[in-house]
Amino acid sequence: MRIPMIAGNWKMNTTATEAERLVLEMLERLDRIEGVEKVLCPPFVSLVAISMMLQNSSIQLGAQNMYFEAKGAYTGEISPLMLSELCEFVILGHSERRWYFGETDEIVNKKVGAALTNKLKPILCVGERLEENEAGKTDEVVNRQVRAGLKDIEPVREFVIAYEPVWAIGTGKAASGKQAAVTIEFIRDVVGKLWNRSTAQDLRILYGGSVTSANIVEFLSRPEIDGALVGGASLKAEEFVGIVEKTAEIKKRAK
Ligand code: 13P
Repeated sequence: MRIPMIAGNWKMNTTATEAERLVLEMLERLDRIEGVEKVLCPPFVSLVAISMMLQNSSIQLGAQNMYFEAKGAYTGEISPLMLSELCEFVILGHSERRWYFGETDEIVNKKVGAALTNKLKPILCVGERLEENEAGKTDEVVNRQVRAGLKDIEPVREFVIAYEPVWAIGTGKAASGKQAAVTIEFIRDVVGKLWNRSTAQDLRILYGGSVTSANIVEFLSRPEIDGALVGGASLKAEEFVGIVEKTAEIKKRAK
């Protein structure tokens, strides 16, 4: 049985002060929810403060990106070694990194390797753009992104993949539960062929793209979908706690 996971990707939002306030607003309620892995991914500048706030809690911390070298003359970059003291997870290959910052499949693959070497658990994001979706190329795109992201990587059970169709991110137009489940099942199949079936069965594969407390049930009631990577709704304490509470209820009922 895979433990469901809800991760909040705050993206480039919240000052350090706002980030601490947001954590304080949700900490107690979030901490009490059982049966769901809860992960917050605030901006880099808040990681130290928030890692202290989350000590002795059941909430884990993730970063939103990193460079693939451990240290050196790479002005402005943050390394996996630095993150390894602060967080458990790191989001890699988010579509905003791919499309705004030119991250290629090769770069994403190097980052995946570097994260694992440094004991960070990657949340690898894949997903097709609108024109690719409309051209019926969803499977082709995610197949390429998954295979390239996992190239030369040994099977690891503690690996998370997030299927985030680019057209659903920040648009309020979420995929349907069925669409998400079909592609997630396809991704699990790709991983099964690349690694092995048993590891693929253990991986958490999340859906991301306009998830709210109002539509989370549609996704999480599907056995293929193991959780969500939440953007906008993770910046509102009430919404995010609501998403996690509903996830706990649905997955408990499904057991
Ligand atoms: P939204 O939930 O704001 O659509 O963002 C999804 C996302 O990109 C999470 O990584």
